[in-house]
Amino acid sequence: MDRLSKLKSHGSWVGRWTFILAATGSAVGLGNIWGFPYKAGTNGGGAFVIIYLLCILAIGIPIMISEIIIGRRSGNSPINAMKLAARDSNTTSSWQIVGWSGITAGILILSFYSVIAGICLNYIFIAATSSGAIDSAEQFRNIISSPMNLLAWHTLFMFLTAIIVSAGINNGIGRMVKILMPMLGVLLIFMVINGIISGGFAQAFSFLFEPDFSKVDSNTFLSAMGQAFFSLSLGMGSIMAYGAYMPKEQKIISTSFTVASLDTLVAIFAGLAIFPIIFAFGLEPNSGPGLVFESLQTAFNQMSYGQIVGPLFFILLSVAALSSSISLLEPGVAFISEEGFMSRKSAAILISFLAWLLGIGSALSFNLWSDFNLTPGRNFLDSMDFIANQILLPLGGMLIAIFVGWFMDKNLINQEIGHVNPILFGTWRFFVKFVAPMSVGLIFYNAIFG
Ligand code: PHE
Repeated sequence: MDRLSKLKSHGSWVGRWTFILAATGSAVGLGNIWGFPYKAGTNGGGAFVIIYLLCILAIGIPIMISEIIIGRRSGNSPINAMKLAARDSNTTSSWQIVGWSGITAGILILSFYSVIAGICLNYIFIAATSSGAIDSAEQFRNIISSPMNLLAWHTLFMFLTAIIVSAGINNGIGRMVKILMPMLGVLLIFMVINGIISGGFAQAFSFLFEPDFSKVDSNTFLSAMGQAFFSLSLGMGSIMAYGAYMPKEQKIISTSFTVASLDTLVAIFAGLAIFPIIFAFGLEPNSGPGLVFESLQTAFNQMSYGQIVGPLFFILLSVAALSSSISLLEPGVAFISEEGFMSRKSAAILISFLAWLLGIGSALSFNLWSDFNLTPGRNFLDSMDFIANQILLPLGGMLIAIFVGWFMDKNLINQEIGHVNPILFGTWRFFVKFVAPMSVGLIFYNAIFG
C-alpha cells in the first residue's frame, strides 16, 4: 500500500441532509448578506446582479459539481484528494497545487471574515440596546473607529471557529446548522416583507434588476465573478473537503443545484431586505462594507419590536458566518490531521492563529491603518478580499475545471456521478471543459489588459 492509501479517515456525514445543510451552511454567510448587497451597491446594481447570476450558472455550478466529484472520490483533504485523482488518472501530481492555493486562500479569507463577523457579534448587543437616538451611520463609524473593540470581537469569533472545527465534522459542524439556517431564512423573509411595506421597495427592485450596462467595465466582471466564487465557497477546497464526507449514494448534480439555488436565493433576499431601507431613508447604496449594518439598524430602530428582532437577526447572521468560517478552516485542518503531523485540535489552533494574526491588519484598516494601501488603491482588508476572491478563488476554480474537464479519467467521473440524464451530463461536461475555464480566462484577460 502506498502512502496515499494510508491517510487517516475522517468519517462521513451522518444523515441524508447533513451534506446539503453543511454545504449550504458554508455557502450562505457574510458573502450573501454583507458582501452581495454592498458589492452590488458599489458596482451600480442591476448589471452587476445579472453578471453575478450568469457566473453562478455558467461557472459556479459546473465547478461545484467538479469539486464534489474529486472530494468524495478520495474522502480526503483537497491536497490529497487532488493527488489521488491525479494519480488514478495517470497524470502529474502537480495538480495538488490547487489544494495548496486553497489553504492559502482559506487563511486570507478567514482573516478578514472573522473581523466582519466580529462586527456582527458586536451588533447583537448594539441592536438590543439601541434607542435610535444615534444615526446608524454614525453608530457604525463609532464602532469601527476603535481598534481594541474590533480586535476583541475578532478574537472571540476566531476562537469559536477553532473550537467547532476541533470537535470534528459531525459533532461540531453538522449539528449546529440544522436548526439555525432555516431560522435565518424565515427572519430574512420577514425583513423582505418589512422592505415591501417600507416605501422604498419599487426603487430597490429597479436598482437590483434593471441593468444599466453603461456602468459595466472589466472590473464589474471581475468583481461579480469573484463574488460568485466566494459566495458558493468555490475554488479553495471548502466544498471539496465537505464533499469528502458526502455519503456515496447521494446525487452530486442535483445536490449542487440545491445548494447553489439556496445560496442565490439568500443573496437576492438580502438585497430585497436591505435596499428598500436604503432608499426609504435616503441612505447611500454605495456606502461600502458598512451598508448592511447601517441599513438594518436603521430599520430595527423604527420597528416596534426592533430591540428583539434586531439582536435575533444578528445572532442568526453570526451563526451563518460561523457555519462558513469553519469551512474555511477545514481544508487545512483536514490535511494536517490526516497526514498525522498534528491532532485535529492542534491543527485547528495553529491555522486559526495564523488567520487571527493576519486579521489584525484588516481590523486596523478601519481605523489606524485606514490610509495604508497594501495593493494599489486598496486598504488591508480590501486587498485580502481582492487577492483571495478575485485572484486565488477564480484561479483555483479554473484549474479544477481544467483538471476535471481534460485530465481526470472519465471512468472515475462516471463512478461518482452515477446514473443521470445524458443530456444533463453532456451539458455539464461542455461547461467544465469549455465554458467555465474560458470565461474565467477571458475575465482575467480583460481585467489585466482591458
Ligand atoms: N461562502 C461564504 C459566504 O458567502 C464564504 C466562504 C468562502 C466560505 C470560501 C468558504 C470558502 O459567506
